[in-house]
Amino acid sequence: MEKTRAVITGVHGWVPDYVLTNHELETMVDTNDEWITTRTGIKERRILKGEGLGTSVIGTESVKGLLEKTNTDPKDIDLIICATVTPDMPFPATANIIADNVGAVNSYSFDISAACSGFMFGLTMGAQFIETGAHKKVIVIGADKMSSIVNYEDRTTCIIFGDGGGAVLLEPTTENLGIMDSLLRSDGSGAPYLNMKAGGSRRPASMETVAAKEHFARQEGAVVFKFAVNNMADVSVRIMERNNLGPEDVAWLVPHQANKRIIDATASKMGIGPEKVMVNIDRYGNTTAGTLPLCLWDYESQLKKGDNLVLAAFGGGFTWGSIYLKWGYDPK
Ligand SMILES: CC(C)(COP(=O)(O)OP(=O)(O)OC[C@H]1O[C@@H](n2cnc3c(N)ncnc32)[C@H](O)[C@@H]1OP(=O)(O)O)[C@@H](O)C(=O)NCCC(=O)NCCS
Repeated sequence: MEKTRAVITGVHGWVPDYVLTNHELETMVDTNDEWITTRTGIKERRILKGEGLGTSVIGTESVKGLLEKTNTDPKDIDLIICATVTPDMPFPATANIIADNVGAVNSYSFDISAACSGFMFGLTMGAQFIETGAHKKVIVIGADKMSSIVNYEDRTTCIIFGDGGGAVLLEPTTENLGIMDSLLRSDGSGAPYLNMKAGGSRRPASMETVAAKEHFARQEGAVVFKFAVNNMADVSVRIMERNNLGPEDVAWLVPHQANKRIIDATASKMGIGPEKVMVNIDRYGNTTAGTLPLCLWDYESQLKKGDNLVLAAFGGGFTWGSIYLKWGYDPK
């Protein structure tokens, strides 16, 4: 019997309109466009402004666009997974809110928390529900409103992050397409280096935690940088090796957009030329779980059926990993 795989049959992204440029950041913290551009590759990022608007707005707009372009009835969706570290609220899950907003009344839904690797973890999980035959249509969302946890007085973090995300539809196929392999890792000993200290059960919100600015993302940038360069490249090279892929076989590297220098180092270790690397960090910064679907959405018109894509990401946890997939359709 032919093997059933899960293939991406559509992708759609969404970013808010407000553009926060490096020049505007110069008026907020002691930084400059030249430093940000050379150290990170970021020129601008999007910010979701407006009272009461959370990550579900990004997810809802992405899924609405996805349903429309794939001509999918929301009632046919079996499962919605949302990867995010900035849920609308601790519970209910943001995926539940999105499902309600789009009319996915027959679906169940939940969030997963794996920081910048969240979309990849969700994609692997969603694919397995399809491969087992349990579900026919699964939506995986990666979305974050990072501006809700960024301290705009901290120049080491506020220059990096932005708001945005996207969603993909997974469906079964017996063609030689779809999610072929994934290699996912995590290491909780990395927790001190990239985290948000308060607001969870260990340090619930209090006057003290607010005063100490513990509800903001914080990082030890140099430690994270080193970890990312070594580990994101390592798993990407390993996934190529175990699938007998040479650099010439890979049509696109789809890397997490955290720092252009990390992207370049990863591509170089894989032997992939810059012309085959998806990059939009200059326009969106690091949207955490949102970066990979935003890349796929941006580059969708250049992707051809059967193209070999290697996805790679790392993030808080630490979490990291790589996915090898064969793209499912030609440009429409
Ligand atoms: C944050 C990051 C861009 C900093 O770049 P870096 O080259 O490591 O810079 P350093 O932290 O060594 O700082 C170098 C100097 O620039 C200064 N600096 C830091 N942020 C600055 C800013 N926004 N503007 C100007 N100067 C800044 C530092 O204070 C330091 O000054 P000093 O030498 O006088 O102490 C980089 O470490 C990084 O990208 N790390 C990974 C972060 C990441 O990817 N996080 C998300 C994970 S998903």
